[in-house]
Amino acid sequence: MQIEPLKQKCEQLFRDFYTEFRGIHIDQLERKWITISMVVIGLFVGIITIDAFFHGVNPPSKVETIDSASLHLSKEFAEDNLGVQVDDKDNVTVRMVAGRYSFFPKHITVPAETPITLRWVSMDVLHGVHIPMTNMSTMIVPGYVAEITTTFPKPGEYPVLCNEYCGLGHNHMWSNISVIAKEDWEAPEKSSAKGGSNHE
Ligand code: CUA
Repeated sequence: MQIEPLKQKCEQLFRDFYTEFRGIHIDQLERKWITISMVVIGLFVGIITIDAFFHGVNPPSKVETIDSASLHLSKEFAEDNLGVQVDDKDNVTVRMVAGRYSFFPKHITVPAETPITLRWVSMDVLHGVHIPMTNMSTMIVPGYVAEITTTFPKPGEYPVLCNEYCGLGHNHMWSNISVIAKEDWEAPEKSSAKGGSNHE
């Protein structure tokens, strides 16, 4: 392949563009405002990037697929397997299903200051989930499992909010998590984690 001619052509194009750009008359005041808006955009992008690094905000690491239409038949997200589970290595896993217009189970209790792996699936359309004061914020795309590990900093009631428009009842789609002190929390009886990833 001939790289040189292509490179020259690109350079020529760029030069033409630059000359033409320099030729455009931009008012002094306009120039000032363009600079200000560029700086503001740069500042916001910078804040988001730094915040993402420090608070560990990142897209779910694994892309796991699941058949949204037959969740009730799947082992992992069958009704009696939802909610909080603790495996023999004391890893806390929460499985929840999002559907118009709620999160199931509607209410769960988890310990504070403990890493909790939350696994979400949607049974119908695209939903989102956001838990204020934690790094828990993700899309729940039908056909995929969304997984995030988070820690609730202190006991209290935490709202679970849908943050992707999913229909007329979107603004009523919420649920809540009761976070209680680590020492007061008791693992639920049935603690046989079935399916999904096992966190070694
Ligand atoms: Cu579910 Cu908005």
